[in-house]
Amino acid sequence: MYSIIKSILFVLSPEKAHNVTTSLLGILCKIPGVSAILRNWYVVESASLTKEVFGITFPNPIGLAAGFDKNASYLHSMKNLGFGFIEIGTITPKSQLGNPQPRLFRLPVDEALINRMGFNNNGINAAIKRLKSRPKGLIVGGNIGKNKVTPNESATGDYLLCFESLFPYVDYFVVNVSSPNTPDLRQLQDKEPLQALLSTLQKANGRKEHRKPILLKIAPDLNQQQLDDILEIADSTSLDGLIATNTTISREGLATLPKEITEIGAGGLSGKPMQNRSTEVIRYIRSKNKRIPIIGVGGIHDVNSALEKLSAGADLIQIYTGFVYEGPGLVARINRALINQVEKA
Ligand code: FNR
Repeated sequence: MYSIIKSILFVLSPEKAHNVTTSLLGILCKIPGVSAILRNWYVVESASLTKEVFGITFPNPIGLAAGFDKNASYLHSMKNLGFGFIEIGTITPKSQLGNPQPRLFRLPVDEALINRMGFNNNGINAAIKRLKSRPKGLIVGGNIGKNKVTPNESATGDYLLCFESLFPYVDYFVVNVSSPNTPDLRQLQDKEPLQALLSTLQKANGRKEHRKPILLKIAPDLNQQQLDDILEIADSTSLDGLIATNTTISREGLATLPKEITEIGAGGLSGKPMQNRSTEVIRYIRSKNKRIPIIGVGGIHDVNSALEKLSAGADLIQIYTGFVYEGPGLVARINRALINQVEKA
């Protein structure tokens, strides 16, 4: 069924297909009975799927990765597709348009995407407006970033503003310093600025009556020394977890013609080609730190790639590109496989 829908959607440009699908799903879910039908198809419930990670009990370990619902616009409809949690954002303090279109490209032979969206989003106030009526019982993470016009020296102010403003409305936070599409953003992953940023956020967190988990999302392109530095900072700032990984700037091992890749230009690659690298990062982090919660993301397109992330050390997983290529049935398939695994054990 999804292969028919996909062949129609893939005629449209990727960004148009995304907007059409999400809007259409939103409209359909307003028709009485449709949400119940979708939930019946896609939501898999079982006590064996529930998992407590960084103090939150997740109904299942599969989340929708950041970037899909940047503005918290589709929480009600996406809730019907079986995800255990949804991460909104990346949200920046002020609304911004992002990079000029086209900025999202399909690599069908590689089952991958390249994007240089550039944190297009409606800003914190618009997100808060929607989050005030967020669906009950859905776990929502807030992925936060800085505006493009904010220089790195003032970036902490942007992250702090997002944190303080969104605090009452989300369940956990993700500090995104790993997108390749905002100039120089990834420099914030360096030791000194990262330590300063996370310490400031944790101090603000500590002043709350009930603090909320703060996670850091990292790039797959970091070397071992950089990963070691991040683990040291995670320890010293009592970070609640890591999300590994964001998209990669690498173009290694692609089957798509080099000419096509050159024509697409800059951007972060996601989907199947980055499966191994993100698993490697997870495995490395887990080998160095047995305790820190990890959300594994990157190239999960089927049951095996999901299980691979979990056995490498991820506590939870997230999906974006696999959802585009495989459809919502993927989430239910992974959840059923996880139940079977428990039953067999
Ligand atoms: C993303 N991703 C992303 N991540 C993030 O932290 N903030 C963001 O705004 C976005 N935006 C975004 C847009 C698009 C079009 C894509 C494809 C991806 C990265 C995403 O959350 C995830 O980390 C990677 O895509 C790797 O996972 P998949 O896609 O291989 O499952």
